[in-house]
Amino acid sequence: MEHFAVVQSIIRAGLAGDREALDKQVMRLCERLEKAGESKEVATLHRLRAAARDTQEMVPSRVEMSRGQVSGELLEPGINAPIDRETGARLCSIDFQSGDKRAPVYSGGVLDTVEGLLREWTNESALQAVGVSPTRTLLIYGPPGAGKTVTAHYIARRLNLPLVTARIDGLISSFLGTTARNIANLFDFANRYACVLLLDEFDALAKLRDDPQEIGEIKRVVNTLLQNLDLRKNFGVTIAITNHDRLLDPAVWRRFETQLQLGEPDESARESLIARFLQPIDAPNSTLRVFSYCLAGRTGADIERICTAAKRTLALSGESHDGPGLFHALSSVLARTPHHDHVPARILATDQEAFVSLIANDGALSLKQTEIGEATGYGQSRVSDLKKAKRHLLLMEASHAQ
Ligand SMILES: Nc1ncnc2c1ncn2[C@@H]1O[C@H](COP(=O)(O)OP(=O)(O)OP(=O)(O)O)[C@@H](O)[C@H]1O
Ligand SMILES: [Mg+2]
Repeated sequence: MEHFAVVQSIIRAGLAGDREALDKQVMRLCERLEKAGESKEVATLHRLRAAARDTQEMVPSRVEMSRGQVSGELLEPGINAPIDRETGARLCSIDFQSGDKRAPVYSGGVLDTVEGLLREWTNESALQAVGVSPTRTLLIYGPPGAGKTVTAHYIARRLNLPLVTARIDGLISSFLGTTARNIANLFDFANRYACVLLLDEFDALAKLRDDPQEIGEIKRVVNTLLQNLDLRKNFGVTIAITNHDRLLDPAVWRRFETQLQLGEPDESARESLIARFLQPIDAPNSTLRVFSYCLAGRTGADIERICTAAKRTLALSGESHDGPGLFHALSSVLARTPHHDHVPARILATDQEAFVSLIANDGALSLKQTEIGEATGYGQSRVSDLKKAKRHLLLMEASHAQ
């Protein structure tokens, strides 16, 4: 049997309950299969990994760190956040992490980066033996809706620490000197308690810099921020988030030990997100692939919005909660959205039969006729007729002409 050695290693790791080794061996098998040109099998394995990730994340993790490893007093509910002395507005919100326990869904090596970072905290002594300490500063950047804020929440939850979130624009005051004092007060608060400090919408600083009237003030603000970020290293974990990485001051950028880029989900991440956001409906695999095909290029937040809208539509339509029901719901959700850059979404929004013809003819998608039937409700002979008629071609030509 081909690849038997890898299969044997997979079984060994599985029997020993070693998830890390198991994952490594599965990746090895994927590489071998990829080399042998078996990309369909590789895709299936990736989907299995993604689905397993979703359920594993429901069980308590061994990587959880005790609060003791970050210094500071215990931050309890009831403790008041610092305020802007001029306006009385709170400088941060405090979150004790009672929300979604699952990890966000990531593409490529992002999960490995996040998990690697968390592992540093459980292996602090190993790091200390070579004279380094765990990563304390992380910059997350990427487009809106990519999962940056949910990632920060996830990290704090895994570290078992409350999350103190400040928005830079909330710290900026129109009163001279107040901004710098707000920043100092915020950091004093975060350093006093064991917590993760999240500086969300960090690019507000960069926007300020573009305003010529603010030059003096922004210099002061950036300097205060840099000083506070440097001092903070001795206390706790700090995460900053920005949409516009290139606008950030290089001096600020350098302060962060790890930079994490989030983007649009790849195919397997899209399917996991769709499966998650369609819950409690258990969509068949073929439906996940059809949804994913239509939603290529969308962010996690878009996918969540579209899946929620599809569930609403389905619930009111009276159709059954299965592949065809979801297919019709997705079609009407897309039809209500004014413009689609992505051709499959545009075709499904206008003509369901043309869409069936499109997926039946798309070799890269490689959906079997039975799977197309399961996902759309069309009988096999109809799928076969639609495939031959190539009805989608007309619509595709119309899209090119636009
Ligand atoms: N990778 C992901 N995994 C799981 N959920 C996601 C992911 N990306 C987006 N979402 C969903 O989309 C919503 C928005 O995500 P989030 O607030 O983290 O985006 P963001 O990158 O911080 O966007 P913005 O720049 O607009 O603040 C979340 O509530 C979450 O449900
Ligand atoms: Mg955000």
